[in-house]
Amino acid sequence: MSFNVAIDGPAGAGKSTVAKRAAAARNLIYVDTGAMYRVMALYFLKKGVDLKDEAAVTEGCREIEIELRYENGVQQVYLNGENVSGQIRTEEVGAAASVTSAYQPVREKLTELQRKLAETEDVIMDGRDIGTCVLPGAQLKIYLTASSAVRARRRYRELEEKGIDCRLEEIEKEIAERDWRDMHREHAPLKQAEDAVLLDSSDMTLQQVVDTITGLIDRKRGTLE
Ligand code: DC
Repeated sequence: MSFNVAIDGPAGAGKSTVAKRAAAARNLIYVDTGAMYRVMALYFLKKGVDLKDEAAVTEGCREIEIELRYENGVQQVYLNGENVSGQIRTEEVGAAASVTSAYQPVREKLTELQRKLAETEDVIMDGRDIGTCVLPGAQLKIYLTASSAVRARRRYRELEEKGIDCRLEEIEKEIAERDWRDMHREHAPLKQAEDAVLLDSSDMTLQQVVDTITGLIDRKRGTLE
């Protein structure tokens, strides 16, 4: 049986950075499910599909084939055969993903893919609904969060480092909107699973969060041996 770790939490909590490091440290495959939702959104944006038109989005789902490949240990996402890993990291695609991920056909398609992966591989999977919906039987569940002010400041610094012009107030507003949409949608909203460990990283360094998570993994594996 495979060993599965689920990490959920709001945008900007640092899930992907932390999950990537913990996965490398403990020989687990890191699966970024947000990237999958972003790929779907990228397709709709490229095709000019109205994101509010659920029927058009549903129809579009049939034309999309998503594939995850691991190249030098790094997850690459392919959209209909094209590597789009570099194209999905914009704020525009993130916001679009938050809208289209609310539709059930989008979620069904990706949930199936995610479950298949976790069935055969030892994974750390991060997202919004991994512990509650995708992998309810995951051996370890973590809900990683931070205050919205801290998350906005981290995002701001990230964008600044990439040389992208941005305003902190604008990012704060976008984060608040994204949180609201992700938490209030009908299907698989963001929420902490009852059996998840709550980790608030507002006052923790990246290394402290990684150490806490690898510690939890070691303890859990120890009890399973
Ligand atoms: O984590 P991220 O910013 O890459 O995610 C982009 C959007 O995708 C997020 O706003 C909500 C959606 N998402 C989701 O609904 N379920 C997941 N498991 C992962 C992401």
